[in-house]
Amino acid sequence: MFCRVGISSFRRVALARSLSSTARQNMKVAVLGASGGIGQPLSMLFKQSPLISELSLYDIVLTPGVAADLSHIETPAQVKGYLEDGLDEALQGCDIVVIPAGVPRKPGMTRDDLFNTNATIVQKLSEAAAKNCPKAMLCIITNPVNSTMPIASEVYKKAGVYDPKRIFGVTTLDSVRANTFVAEAKGLDVRDVEVPVIGGHSGVTILPLLSQTNPSVKFTQEELEQLTDRIQNAGTEVVNAKAGAGSATLSMAYAGARFVFSLIGAMKGQSKNVVECTFVRSDVTEAPYFATEVQLGPNGAEVVKGMGELSDFEKEKLKEVLPELLKNIAKGDSFVNK
Ligand SMILES: NC(=O)c1ccc[n+]([C@@H]2O[C@H](COP(=O)([O-])OP(=O)(O)OC[C@H]3O[C@@H](n4cnc5c(N)ncnc54)[C@H](O)[C@@H]3O)[C@@H](O)[C@H]2O)c1
Repeated sequence: MFCRVGISSFRRVALARSLSSTARQNMKVAVLGASGGIGQPLSMLFKQSPLISELSLYDIVLTPGVAADLSHIETPAQVKGYLEDGLDEALQGCDIVVIPAGVPRKPGMTRDDLFNTNATIVQKLSEAAAKNCPKAMLCIITNPVNSTMPIASEVYKKAGVYDPKRIFGVTTLDSVRANTFVAEAKGLDVRDVEVPVIGGHSGVTILPLLSQTNPSVKFTQEELEQLTDRIQNAGTEVVNAKAGAGSATLSMAYAGARFVFSLIGAMKGQSKNVVECTFVRSDVTEAPYFATEVQLGPNGAEVVKGMGELSDFEKEKLKEVLPELLKNIAKGDSFVNK
């Protein structure tokens, strides 16, 4: 079921392996915020995967129930649920920690409106990860990612355990959406389409590189403008359609699972040339954190790739990305260092 959605060869390999009964691995993965709209389906996708042997589910509510429910699924991963005072235990021995904890947007809100609540949550959870499993790969889903990933990085620096290769802002959903919308617009098989999306993960900071779509596709100026605008605002499309009941959860769970399965394949050296767009420590632009294609490997973000050749349209759009992204990053930095 999952493999049908896989697209490029590395993605297909990672997802197919996740379902292969012979590819069992000793990977302990924690989901912090596991009872939420994203946390529950994401945990279910993890439970389905033989790449994961232990699944640690932490939330401030409902995890005993979510864990009991998932534990009945006939796959080998051992599932344990933890509530508030179980955070340290939940994290011990983890190889990967995924954080979707926090409040989602309601109609009319920007991702930045979530800052005050979610910054505190991400700070607390990343302090616990830095203490209990400092070498684990840390994948931040909680918005605003442009600020929460810098918050986690500052927390790790303060704890003296910072390794820039191991902290990721999960922006995979932007590529997933871009692939879907381009395939729809051009009548292509979505499994064959891969669009790099760079910059950050909110509004104008989301920059799809349609000129680098694989396979190569020609767009009119009108198509470029419409598709770019739709990809940048796709999250708001879902927020409005859900009419107050939250933001993207199911597509985000898919995207989070795609990223983590790619990461596991790369960590285990099973898949060579595993590339995902993700928001990481970067020297590609003046922004200290920036999303581009990143080659993943046993130690995490092995090679942060450049932006490639941008079209004139993309060069103009990049001018809008940087001021906003720098502001969001500074807000995260100063939250921890205030
Ligand atoms: N990166 C992306 O592409 C992307 C996409 C969609 C949503 N998001 C973000 O993901 C986050 C979660 O969204 P959701 O729809 O699952 O929200 P939700 O409200 O359904 O779930 C959030 C969960 O976090 C839990 N939580 C709150 N404080 C916690 C804490 N201190 N420790 C542990 N758990 C805690 C809540 O109890 C809840 O179960 C939001 O910030 C949302 O904006 C990111």
